[in-house]
Parts: sequence; C-alpha cells; structure tokens
Amino acid sequence: MDIDIFTLFPEAFSWFERQRHVASALAHGNTLGYVNYRDHTPLRAGQVDDTPFGGGAGMVLRVDVVEAALQARYGRDPLDVRSERTVIALTPAGRVLDDALVDELSQEQALTLLSGRYEGFDQRVIDHFASDEVSIGRYVLAGGELAAMVVCDAVLRKLPGALGHEESAVEESFSRALEGAPEYPHYTRPAEYRGWRVPEVLLSGHHAQIREWRLAQSRGRAKPGPEGAPLP
Ligand code: 6GU
Repeated sequence: MDIDIFTLFPEAFSWFERQRHVASALAHGNTLGYVNYRDHTPLRAGQVDDTPFGGGAGMVLRVDVVEAALQARYGRDPLDVRSERTVIALTPAGRVLDDALVDELSQEQALTLLSGRYEGFDQRVIDHFASDEVSIGRYVLAGGELAAMVVCDAVLRKLPGALGHEESAVEESFSRALEGAPEYPHYTRPAEYRGWRVPEVLLSGHHAQIREWRLAQSRGRAKPGPEGAPLP
C-alpha cells in the first residue's frame, strides 16, 4: 500500500517510522510519503491558513493551499484524485475509526491522509477533495498528525509482513475471529507470582480446551454499546 500524508509537520513522523511493525511494513514494499502544505502554498511568506469567515477562534487551513499541495503531488486536478485513491480528511467529526474501518482501509492500494491543524479545514476541502472523513474518537486533538499515525499504525499492522506471525492480527481484540469482542487475557511465566496462579487450563496443553476458554473469556469481556459489542 502507498500512503501519502499531507501535513505541516512531516518531522513529527520520524519516531513513528522507526516502530518495528511500521519499518517491517515498509521493508515489504509499502510506502509512506509526506507532503508539507507549506512547500506548495501559492501564498506569500508560507501562509497556509486564515481566519474563519463569520468570525470565531482559531485558524482554518485554506482550500487553495490544499489544492496546490494535491496538484503538486499527483500532477492532476485534485478533483480527479479521489476517484483513483482514497483521500481521507482527518477531522474530529469524521467516521469513528474502529476495527472494521481499519480492515476496509487496509484493502486499499493507495491512501492519502490530509491532516489539519488549528480549527481544521475549509469545508470545501472535505466536500470536494476528500472521499472520506475519519476521526479517531470523540474528542478534539490540536492537529491531525497523531490521528494520521493512529490510522497508519492500525492499517499497516494488518498488512502482510508487518507482524512477525501472519496470524497475529487475525485473532485479536475486536476481530471477526473473536466475534468483535475484546481479546482474551494473556499470561506468561512465572506460572505463580505472589500466590496469583495462571489459569490451570493454559498450562494443560489441551489446545481445544484452551481455545474454548479463550473464546468464553473474550465473550465475557464484550461490553454492550457500539464499541466492543458483539458483531451481528
Ligand atoms: Cl482525525 N483530528 C483532530 N484534530 N482531532 C481529532 C481527530 C482528528 N480524531 C479525534 N479527534
């Protein structure tokens, strides 16, 4: 998968790229590219944002600046870009990211993530240049960079080669294999610590019983409500 991140702070991603699963995903032919809006602004003095019409606090990322950055990256009218690759505007009001949405995004060949800062984007960016709008939760971050990293982290670890075991992303919290429920508890050595025993079944070597116990634990952790609820 090729992921492009549009941001005012590309340097914020250098730590992220060094994470093992990210580095592995990149070594397997996936790519992360960065476009700094400021490098493409048609305005003087590197201006990228402006005060909101109608008044109010904060600054808004300008539509002409986002257009220039998309045009520079893809060499065509940004109106046509979203029919070729998924262009996601990262905003607090978007579709809330969950395991199903991560799965959906991990099927894409090419993703473009638009990070905003300040009060966000001029709405025309979302209406005309983006194909989707994604949020990482119902709270407000000062910018989309952390959200972009969250999306990339969750998507890249689903791709072949990112994790040590091909299997490890299959049976994990909120996955279909666990009926959408959180994952079962894990234990490692020592088998007893301060009198706290690891559940006997895990030491038994009975794989069928272990599988059954884990599924029951996972079901027992499912919470009612939209997040962590059993999948239909
Ligand atoms: Cl994607 N951006 C910002 N600025 N805040 C958020 C968010 C995104 N998702 C949740 N809060």
